[in-house]
Amino acid sequence: MKVLVIGGGGREHALCWKLSQNPRIERIYAVPGNAGISEIAECKKIEYEKDFSSLARLAAEEGIDFAVVGPEVPLVNGIVDYLQKKGLAVFGPSKRAALLEGSKVFAKRFMKKYGIPTADFRVFSHSDKAIAYIKKEGPKVIKVDGLAAGKGALLPNTKEEAVEAIKSIMEKKVFGEAGKRIVLEDRLRGREISFIVITDGETIRPLASTQDHKPLYEGDKGPNTGGMGAYSPAFVSPSLYKRIMKRIIISTLKGMKKEGREFRGILYAGLMIEGGEPKVLEFNVRFGDPETQAILPRLKNDLLEVLLAAREGNLHKINLEWRSQAAVCVVLASGGYPHLYQKGKSIKGLERLFRLRNVFPFCAGVKRENQSLVTDGGRVVGITALGKNIPEAVRQTYRAVDKVHFEGMYYRRDIAYKALNPS
Ligand code: AMP
Ligand code: GLY
Repeated sequence: MKVLVIGGGGREHALCWKLSQNPRIERIYAVPGNAGISEIAECKKIEYEKDFSSLARLAAEEGIDFAVVGPEVPLVNGIVDYLQKKGLAVFGPSKRAALLEGSKVFAKRFMKKYGIPTADFRVFSHSDKAIAYIKKEGPKVIKVDGLAAGKGALLPNTKEEAVEAIKSIMEKKVFGEAGKRIVLEDRLRGREISFIVITDGETIRPLASTQDHKPLYEGDKGPNTGGMGAYSPAFVSPSLYKRIMKRIIISTLKGMKKEGREFRGILYAGLMIEGGEPKVLEFNVRFGDPETQAILPRLKNDLLEVLLAAREGNLHKINLEWRSQAAVCVVLASGGYPHLYQKGKSIKGLERLFRLRNVFPFCAGVKRENQSLVTDGGRVVGITALGKNIPEAVRQTYRAVDKVHFEGMYYRRDIAYKALNPS
């Protein structure tokens, strides 16, 4: 069997690594992949966010049987519908289902319609009305409607900051078309968790519990990034688990079916637990990054079998099994990320990590240049290690992190601190 993985980040490296353990797979292709992925897959350069016809041609020419899509942009642009029409089996939601991540306005109105708990909100298409609302109501959380690489949620503390943010989104258009409409919503306070399930449209199987750290600085301060680290498991009590499944996951999947947007794939709910009640901050329609880097080393099942079952409506035949060990992933980023940063810095010590047991260096912005590895993106590599519990996994991960260096390297030293000191 030949499998295509779409994307080139740490999440896709983790997917390729886990898929490569299946003996039925004779070859993995990755578009675009990266220098880490190229050790286990054949990497091809195609504009995967839009150029679906070149992807279909690659699949036909190489005899690819099955594709797995990592990032949100191609999903929201309809990659699954397109490739399936061309006869390729693809794991991921349809374009209609992917709107749950593609439009915050759609997601919020959908949640309101189906009684799924989330922060109260208003939608605005004109900056003057949004600004007048802020002046009356005080600062609100601001979300751009469209995709913004995980950076489209702003949490101003004052009216002035909120007004500035609205002007930059709606007048200066810093997020382009994605900021044409915005959601202004109440700020929720509490503990944040990510709840990720796989579904074939009928059966739902939750993945191992996990939590990422989105803010750039230690103590979860500073601007939001795509994610600076993650850990698994993250504690969820049995009663909270039941409430999340019933009030959020099952209600969402039923509602989407009613809307003619049946969901198959990965549904990722970002939640705030406020006074014991889970409320949805956002939905993603794909594997989280870096969460996947912490989850997959704990998965005992064969990933290909799981994804095929989900795609074919056979998930009821699969029980997911997880290693009892904990996993912690620390992202090493280029200095300056998530804003401007330099590329092409030589990465020392990374290749040695590929040979260690229970340490998984999943590459993102990494490129090979004259036989050595150099930085090629904001998030450069996610280093995951397993340990018998979270403190042990934290120790093992930072021991591995200490072996890697590149100029300007930045990472958080406190990943999983919330699991170490639960409040
Ligand atoms: P989102 O992209 O919607 O997940 O937002 C990114 C991050 O912003 C979340 O992980 C939260 O930490 C924070 N956030 C988003 N919405 C809210 C809210 N209504 N109240 C408090 N924090 C929020
Ligand atoms: N780590 C957050 C995300 O994948 O959206």
